[in-house]
Amino acid sequence: MSKILVLNGPNLGRLGVRQPEIYGTQNLVDLERRLRAELPTGYELELRQTDDEAELVGWLHEAVDTQANVVLNPAAFTHYSYALRDAVAMVTESGQTVIEVHISNPHAREQFRHNSVISAVATGVIAGFGFDSYSLALKHICQ
Ligand code: DQA
Repeated sequence: MSKILVLNGPNLGRLGVRQPEIYGTQNLVDLERRLRAELPTGYELELRQTDDEAELVGWLHEAVDTQANVVLNPAAFTHYSYALRDAVAMVTESGQTVIEVHISNPHAREQFRHNSVISAVATGVIAGFGFDSYSLALKHICQ
């Protein structure tokens, strides 16, 4: 059984009510239901969300130890968390895939969102397709 962690950073627990014009009206329960429906047999998926940087870093350490592949929406940590970047690098350096995903297209938004400190150490980046960003990442990991 191949394990996939779908990890979500700060404020993503508010999906559905947070800026629906940008993030849509669906929440993380809807996202998890959708990803489970798309998951091929032979894969195990766990979706988590935290507002806590330390917890997110700990989950990436867990990905190294359990050899899980990761779909990661780092949310605002994308733009400034070197701790998260170092943790992502540990996962990719140990041979697993980390796909950075974003619901919106950060490059089409405020200037501070244009830089990601994560992208250079991620396996790839998918942004701007709503929840399809996660589905596309899952598809890549499972192919
Ligand atoms: C986001 C984009 C980030 O800039 C923002 O801080 C988020 C969500 C996205 O999924 O579009 O919280 O990662």
